[in-house]
Amino acid sequence: MSAPTPPSSPRVRNARGSLVVAIDGPAASGKSSTAQWVAQRLGFRHVDSGALYRAATAVAIARAGEEFDEPTVLAGLDEISLRPAQQSFTPTWRRGEMEELIRAPEVTRHVSRVAQMDGVRQWVNAHVRMAAEGCDVVVDGRDIGTVVFPDADLKVFLIADPWERARRRLTQRHGRGPTDAEIADETERLVQRDARDATQTVQAKDAILIDTTYLTQAEQVERIVSLAGVFRGIGPVNGSEPRS
Ligand code: CDP
Repeated sequence: MSAPTPPSSPRVRNARGSLVVAIDGPAASGKSSTAQWVAQRLGFRHVDSGALYRAATAVAIARAGEEFDEPTVLAGLDEISLRPAQQSFTPTWRRGEMEELIRAPEVTRHVSRVAQMDGVRQWVNAHVRMAAEGCDVVVDGRDIGTVVFPDADLKVFLIADPWERARRRLTQRHGRGPTDAEIADETERLVQRDARDATQTVQAKDAILIDTTYLTQAEQVERIVSLAGVFRGIGPVNGSEPRS
């Protein structure tokens, strides 16, 4: 019987030459923050594919308001690039920073409609694949393990109870514990977005399902880092202790 590869062993390279960890799941399942933390632990770069869909939506709204149409969205894509930073890739707009803009409520309201557009999906997928050409990445989204990187080295699918997802999203947004009425409201919004995103939110057959409802973020990060070690000999890099 062969023992699991210890974390200190050399990383096993695939045909692509760079390693990909795919983290998929529904709205507010904690994909992005988990992916960011896992990337830091493994010494990989983080790519948030949802941020690109949000960037496309934000630019369309800036160009034509909330009534934008598909040609407006497609015309705006040229204004966005995916820039490498030290630990991640970030969508950047010709007119400046996007980080706050892409989290605006009107962007969240319209992003699922934009994500249905074939031209936008192809544009996002091409950017994400290009990012993985030069370095090891942790990518989060809805279809990373199925469509974007069907050959990913490790695939994880995160789920959590909708009420708990709503509670976490509101706590993150407002920096305080939300009331039950607020959570109920947000739960309804999340469930509606899950329904609109259902076609592209698919668990790959070879993905490992992690229900995070009763896990802390540190626990779910450690689980994924351990899986990476056993699957591909991808161990944590020295000195990358979890961020709190
Ligand atoms: O708000 P949350 O973190 O759940 O979503 P996100 O990761 O920021 O993604 C925003 C939206 O982009 C989703 O609601 C989907 O409509 C779309 N998306 C997608 O269709 N495919 C992906 N791989 C990632 C995001």
